[in-house]
Amino acid sequence: MIVNRRQFLLLTAGLAAGCQAVKEDVNSGATTGHPVNAGPVSNFAADGVYNNFRDHGFFVICEGGKLSALSAICTHRKCKLVAERDGSFYCKCHGSTFDPAGHVTTGPATRDLPVLPSHTDEQGQLIVTVPVM
Ligand code: FES
Repeated sequence: MIVNRRQFLLLTAGLAAGCQAVKEDVNSGATTGHPVNAGPVSNFAADGVYNNFRDHGFFVICEGGKLSALSAICTHRKCKLVAERDGSFYCKCHGSTFDPAGHVTTGPATRDLPVLPSHTDEQGQLIVTVPVM
């Protein structure tokens, strides 16, 4: 692969920066919650789905230099989801599936997975606000 100067600068800037958390409350629907420290944002530098916090109710997603937290709880009847190798999500309870962005691809779930509010604190830790169930 041959890259020009501009592409090289963009690629190296992206590698140096890694994934960055941005304040996110789009589609969360959460009005109350408790903060969970997911650790240093440097732990999520590579693009992909991190399922270390599935039992806390979320997946950390790094995509294109942006970090986000996607609910790991099925919107049908609240079973924990499984992250698939292709970045999609599967619910073992009744078979719902969600694409990597959290959109429903197979029911019975009808609502997309919410993106949970998250930010990076002063110490560089990723803080995710998990809704109270
Ligand atoms: Fe997930 Fe029913 S709880 S499909």
